[in-house]
Amino acid sequence: MACKLQYLIVSLVLITAGTARSQISCHDDIQPIFNANCIVCHGGNSGVTLSSYESVMNSVWVQYNMNIVVAGEPDQSPIVDKIGPNPTYGQRMPEGGPFLDDDEINLIRQYAACQMSVTLPSIEIRLSLIQNRSRKIPL
Ligand code: HEC
Repeated sequence: MACKLQYLIVSLVLITAGTARSQISCHDDIQPIFNANCIVCHGGNSGVTLSSYESVMNSVWVQYNMNIVVAGEPDQSPIVDKIGPNPTYGQRMPEGGPFLDDDEINLIRQYAACQMSVTLPSIEIRLSLIQNRSRKIPL
């Protein structure tokens, strides 16, 4: 019984580690899309700036009056609206095309969903509590 519990704890650790990795690779996968399609116009120091994770997260779309990425909420993230066929304000991005294909648009949606990574430290804290408790289980 105690052994089975240990297996369960090990699998929980692996699942959580897997989630952490996919969030990081999600982050890595997305910057090349911005580099190839956006930063020629949005690579500066003012307005929407897509040249790094930090600048993307700090970018505000003035007409929406909100950040272009809403953590964990792809449907509420203005950036997803702006790369789709009928943005609420202005032109579809990249301005003048060629537009992003469905896979790239999906990656940007996942990227917005990925911003849940801000909760990662608390997951790690919860994990270490589980691991500590598992040490006390007699084998
Ligand atoms: C050829 C230049 C150009 C490229 C490439 C481009 N944009 Fe834009 N972008 C603009 C211009 C000009 C505006 C303002 C006019 C408008 O909103 O239609 C704008 C506006 C925006 C806005 C609204 C915030 C603002 O500053 O008005 C977002 C969000 C945005 N772009 C995202 C993107 C993304 C994401 C990409 C790449 C997939 C991209 N853009 C590629 C020129 C460009």
